[in-house]
Amino acid sequence: MFALLLLTVVMLCAQQSSAIITAEQLKAIMPKCKHPEYLNNINDALVEGSINTCLRQSAFLAQLAHESGQLVYMEEIANGSDYEGRIKLGNTEPGDGMRFKGRGPIQLTGRANYAAAGKALGLDLVNNPEQVKTPYVGFRTSVWFWTNRQLNALADQGTLDSFRQITKKVNGGTNGQADREQYWAKAKNVLGCDDGSVSITLPTCTANGVSGVCMSTTNCKGRSVAGHCAGPKDIQCCI
Ligand SMILES: *[C@@H]1O[C@H](CO)[C@@H](O)[C@H](O)[C@H]1NC(C)=O
Repeated sequence: MFALLLLTVVMLCAQQSSAIITAEQLKAIMPKCKHPEYLNNINDALVEGSINTCLRQSAFLAQLAHESGQLVYMEEIANGSDYEGRIKLGNTEPGDGMRFKGRGPIQLTGRANYAAAGKALGLDLVNNPEQVKTPYVGFRTSVWFWTNRQLNALADQGTLDSFRQITKKVNGGTNGQADREQYWAKAKNVLGCDDGSVSITLPTCTANGVSGVCMSTTNCKGRSVAGHCAGPKDIQCCI
């Protein structure tokens, strides 16, 4: 009886210590996220993927924040037709572009990724691609992608260059680079590994005759003006 009680106490403590990121930290990094219950999925993901240092967590959360608009979009808004016939994504069958469009916090895309993630997780994601937009499967596919592309090793380097290599692996290009770097800086600050060694230069812009910088509307302390910056809609000229 005593042993059982002790075991229960130990198990409860183990559960507690797996809460790596706190609700407050999540809110500071992704204020638009209206799903506090995702915190459990996030902490499970960090454990599952050995995303267990401040630098790893900052890089992972920054990429997720950009890809899903702070965990608001678990499915890409566009219909996916842009990915039709993309051999690199393994989209070999008619309709694959739309079928395997971006889903989950990291926006898993393409038949090849859905097939490989499904195989690794023991799920038939090729025939049930919609599963990826559920929090449980979505976060697990995000961890699968992170591990499969060996992004912890890049995150460990902690340099702007290594973070840009992560962006390239996640996005395939440089889409949203400045936005991702903003989130990275914010996350490092919130989680406690911002050593100030990397200063991020944001693109400059001019709006209403005032010079500013292009950044996420969430992070702008002044006024955000649309139409002066490249990239997604929430990257605006902060003046
Ligand atoms: C998908 O979106 C594209 C671009 O927005 C549009 O041209 C196309 O007609 C859409 N296809 C379908 C099947 O909805």
